[in-house]
Amino acid sequence: MKVSEALKARKSVRAFLDKPVEEEKIHRILKAARHAPSGTNTQPWLVAVVKGQKKQALDKQMLAAYEKFGKGHPNYNYYPQEWIEPFKGRRVACGKQLYSVLNIPREDKAGQRAQWQANYRAFDAPVALYFFLDEIMETGSFMDYGMFLQSIMLVAVEEGLATCPQAALSEYPEVVREALGYEERYRVVCGMALGYEDESAVINSYRTPREEVDNFTRFFE
Ligand SMILES: Cc1cc2nc3c(=O)[nH]c(=O)nc-3n(C[C@H](O)[C@H](O)[C@H](O)COP(=O)(O)O)c2cc1C
Repeated sequence: MKVSEALKARKSVRAFLDKPVEEEKIHRILKAARHAPSGTNTQPWLVAVVKGQKKQALDKQMLAAYEKFGKGHPNYNYYPQEWIEPFKGRRVACGKQLYSVLNIPREDKAGQRAQWQANYRAFDAPVALYFFLDEIMETGSFMDYGMFLQSIMLVAVEEGLATCPQAALSEYPEVVREALGYEERYRVVCGMALGYEDESAVINSYRTPREEVDNFTRFFE
């Protein structure tokens, strides 16, 4: 598979088959992804592969945290406090696409909430990956992390697997750290659902749009 094919084939998948992911596949994915570049080769990534009973227990704890605290309190701000265009419009369109394919109207707050909750179960994927970053590392390491995460997602495609990167899984970092035994110094960067795509699920049936190259690029010479 060409890299460009994998780039186009990758998409966020939010419903998975009830089929375990082979341990050796997970290992191959991480073994390939570790070749991602990082500033001065710091390789700041730390990965927890969570499945089986451990995942079930953590899913429950994450859902309980959502019930208790509502909006989470991640270790860093992913999004701006106040939205402006063009980001605001793209974000709204992203939500609309999801809820319209699921037939959940704007006023159905309970339906939206139930769908949002599925985040904390990593969309019932057989595997949830959690990613940690030492608190002494700075903004640059988030760039490194992005490259590592995309590498994982591309190799997953090559392995016939599907993923959904999830900021939602970083919303209750203390729950994740405690459940998995990571010290407080490790920030939870995000999580990722990993498994075999349920191709019959309507939630997986749409693709998100992208801007044309000319809309975000200027050429100089
Ligand atoms: C770091 C990161 C965090 C994300 N967090 C979530 C999340 O918590 N829940 C979710 O459903 N999708 C999440 N997404 C998926 C985005 O909504 C998705 O990537 C975007 O809409 C583009 O669609 P595509 O991935 O299918 O190309 C996240 C994506 C990234 C890169």
